[in-house]
Amino acid sequence: MRENGRIVAVILFVSLDMFLLWSAIESIEGDYHSSRPAARLPVVPSIRPEQMLAFSTLRTAGVALPSSQQLPTRSDISSQYGDTPVGSNDEACQEYRRLVPKSQRFLAVAGLFNTGTHLLGNLLVRNCQIDGHVKGTGMRMVVPWGKHNPPLTHRLRNVAKVGGKGVNQTSVLPVVVVKDPYHCSHWLHDSDHCPAIVNWNTIAPNAVTVKYALDFKNYKSHIEFWNEWNREYINASFPAIFVRFEDLLFDAERAITGLCKCVEGRRRRGGFRYVEESAKNSSTVSHQGANGLLSAIMRYGNPQKRLEGWTKEDWIYARDHLDWEIMARFKYSLPKWPGVQ
Ligand SMILES: *[C@@H]1O[C@H](CO)[C@@H](O)[C@H](O)[C@H]1NC(C)=O
Ligand SMILES: *[C@@H]1O[C@H](CO)[C@@H](O)[C@H](O)[C@H]1NC(C)=O
Ligand SMILES: *[C@@H]1O[C@H](CO)[C@@H](O)[C@H](O)[C@H]1NC(C)=O
Repeated sequence: MRENGRIVAVILFVSLDMFLLWSAIESIEGDYHSSRPAARLPVVPSIRPEQMLAFSTLRTAGVALPSSQQLPTRSDISSQYGDTPVGSNDEACQEYRRLVPKSQRFLAVAGLFNTGTHLLGNLLVRNCQIDGHVKGTGMRMVVPWGKHNPPLTHRLRNVAKVGGKGVNQTSVLPVVVVKDPYHCSHWLHDSDHCPAIVNWNTIAPNAVTVKYALDFKNYKSHIEFWNEWNREYINASFPAIFVRFEDLLFDAERAITGLCKCVEGRRRRGGFRYVEESAKNSSTVSHQGANGLLSAIMRYGNPQKRLEGWTKEDWIYARDHLDWEIMARFKYSLPKWPGVQ
């Protein structure tokens, strides 16, 4: 039981970390705009054409780019996540549009802990509008059964305390954020051994217990946690669509435009917006683990960081137990371990 408490606490801590990341992104933007207008963003001479993807994301977000930064190249990104963003599921979109009239449609966010669900919610609310609603955009920060709760046991059974009341759950289309299971930062971990998939001494998988709104669930390790949680949405009997965290990072405008089209929404007027202006004030938050958009791009763009903190035994367990059908569907590659075929 003490162990459960610890794990739940770590999950909360990790979620907080994502919040801080987002706050830091806002603070970067805030600081930037307060000193220099976006139109006069300096052209950085060291940018190579293959770095334009990362560069243009940062420019759109108004992030000042230190010229010394070695931005990830397109091939750094594609070697980990494939060449193109993974589009939403057209069949599910059609099915959803058939089932729910436009004026009742809602796009609502779900995803595992610390996958960027808050980021997705903000991007949707700022950029997409379903016309015909009496009020609001039709975008919701969370699915009404709770964004981290597994849908099989919670949809039509649980009403989330925040964002759940008075929402017709069958009229909501969940958009699920999926994140690369490598790059350990989103797993529960201790700082020396991240992601701690297997026990350091015994090499047995570290079991994970997660407390959801209506029940506890035990998983053999973080790998099964990732597999089973995502699989519930992939195999769901109701329409659900997906977006990768990495596409929100490297190609947010294209990703959000695709999701918005799925529900016959339209892009809101004006340019693409990364952050909510009024939320800038969280810039005072500072934390060791807080990163900005720039450092998120540097981290997730860097194939060398993908196995940072992993032991060879973690890597072997993940290779042998990850659901490679899900990995292939989302175009996540198997990172190489030095010297292993
Ligand atoms: C909930 O939404 C579904 C799909 O739009 C609709 O068929 C159903 O009648 C709605 N239920 C209520 C109670 O409004
Ligand atoms: C999910 O669906 C696939 C394809 O229909 C099937 O092979 C798989 O066994 C299902 N998995 C689960 C966990 O239900
Ligand atoms: C923003 O932060 C400043 C300094 O901490 C504070 O004085 C101000 O009230 C905050 N504004 C809002 C809208 O929260």
